[in-house]
Amino acid sequence: MAADRWIDVGRVEDIPQRGARTVVIEGGEEIAVFRTGDDAVFALVNRCPHRGGPLSQGIVHGHSVACPLHNWTIALETGQAQGHDSGCTPTIPVRLEDGRILIAPPLLISA
Ligand code: FES
Repeated sequence: MAADRWIDVGRVEDIPQRGARTVVIEGGEEIAVFRTGDDAVFALVNRCPHRGGPLSQGIVHGHSVACPLHNWTIALETGQAQGHDSGCTPTIPVRLEDGRILIAPPLLISA
């Protein structure tokens, strides 16, 4: 079963508040792992639904990130573009264990 293959991507404290880090998973997909100002952690494919901008380089505000390319706002919980924009970035299941961030193994990730 894949459940024991969750990927440890480091400690929560390794990511600055309102920051992100990236990790490349099996298959080559780059994942952006975000830490918000209230210490919630989210993971999304690092690709804006607009034109593929690197969401990990965006500005995190609340539980959203503003894409650095054209400033679309993407909800971190759902990957949905907000406001008048439409599109969705796949989200990755995350869990925290003893202060460490685990993301779902690739088999559980649907693109
Ligand atoms: S690529 Fe993200 S807003 Fe255009």
